[in-house]
Amino acid sequence: MTGFYRQGPALVCDGVALDRIAAAEGTPLYVYSAATIAGRYRAIDEAFAGYPHAIHYALKANSTLALTRLLRGLGSGADANSGGEIDVALRAGFIPPQIVFTGVGKTLADLGQAIDLGIRTINVESAGEIARVDALSRERQTRTKIAIRINPDVDAKTHPHISTGLKTNKFGVPIGDVPALCAHARALAGVEIVGLHAHIGSQITDLDPLTRAARALVALARELAGAGTRIEHLDLGGGLGVSYDGSRVPTAREYADAVLPIVRESGLAIVLEPGRQIVAPAGALLTRVVDVKEAGGRLARRSLGEGGGEDVGGERLFVVMDAGMTELIRPMLYNAFHRIEPVVLTEAPPTSCDVVGPLCESSDTLGKDRTLPRPQAGELYAILDTGAYGSVMASNYNRRLLPAEVMVEDGKARVIRRRQTIDELLSLEL
Ligand SMILES: Cc1ncc(COP(=O)(O)O)c(C=O)c1O
Repeated sequence: MTGFYRQGPALVCDGVALDRIAAAEGTPLYVYSAATIAGRYRAIDEAFAGYPHAIHYALKANSTLALTRLLRGLGSGADANSGGEIDVALRAGFIPPQIVFTGVGKTLADLGQAIDLGIRTINVESAGEIARVDALSRERQTRTKIAIRINPDVDAKTHPHISTGLKTNKFGVPIGDVPALCAHARALAGVEIVGLHAHIGSQITDLDPLTRAARALVALARELAGAGTRIEHLDLGGGLGVSYDGSRVPTAREYADAVLPIVRESGLAIVLEPGRQIVAPAGALLTRVVDVKEAGGRLARRSLGEGGGEDVGGERLFVVMDAGMTELIRPMLYNAFHRIEPVVLTEAPPTSCDVVGPLCESSDTLGKDRTLPRPQAGELYAILDTGAYGSVMASNYNRRLLPAEVMVEDGKARVIRRRQTIDELLSLEL
């Protein structure tokens, strides 16, 4: 078994007790399972085996260097969404032909960097961006490989904040405009169209929108080939969801079985950009209870020692953690659900509570109406499936310091990013 599971009452990561890791490194703390990352990467690779494909792990999900290096070692390429992520990919040992570059607002500096490096493709988002890549490439007397990101107007049926494939979203070129754009771009000396790209959203748990986007790409490639533009690959983006609540979601194999028959007829190689699918279940955020607050009426009196009071409907028990929206913003940003579990199970009676963070924001709630063994200050909790879009979105709001990160590999826990210090936080200020 790999990942996070119980050995007796204790939650462990690949056999290493989480309470020991937290005692050594403090909280809030991200812990990752290297074995889970490897297993999930291989599951995708094997699902597409037998068809030409390249996995470009989406760094935006989690680009801590050690984790990025681990994926490179497994054979992955990288999908970068900013100049900074290209730098991370290079420092993690990727060579430029292993990097694709996506992003809705690439600056001239970003594009120049990508062109100078000679990365695999720039996934371009608009006619204006093609013109900029063309001009920058001609200045450098080079020709840059581009893939056109299409907006297929497909509803990913996910949270609106992580839906990117509708015509009302800011991403990509409207699919109907692509043939004319390609006809124009073919005449440009600075660009070579090598691919079509679609990424319609994230945390997609219904295969139908993903297959519709794949069909749209294949049909468009056929139309372009008829008009003389022959491309080399179809980039299907990322987006495949994971189960945060234990409900069944499509596996990597089911995804491959759904899209491969569609793509096969084109004969074109596939590029995949999975992020969440690989790393989300491989991470947990460890956090300690700072305070347990009983709000309102009888419960409040009880906490003052005035007697009376059982848990009464309408009253609230707040469990205040030492992690909040600065460490994990998904619950506040997307209304995302994460399982929250005591690291060591107790015999305390099940109690309904709101699990909240320490920040001065009412939205700083990690989990509403949860039933937990009545928590006590000082106890350690794990917020599960937080390997993707967790630490990468951490912030210094309220002057809080970025959390440390630990990787468990071969039965050993090692710090892969140490906790930020106040001096480091203030070091940029003059
Ligand atoms: C262009 C692009 N590719 C890949 C991804 C990775 O998506 P996911 O983590 O859902 O697989 C994203 C994230 O939204 C993205 O914007």
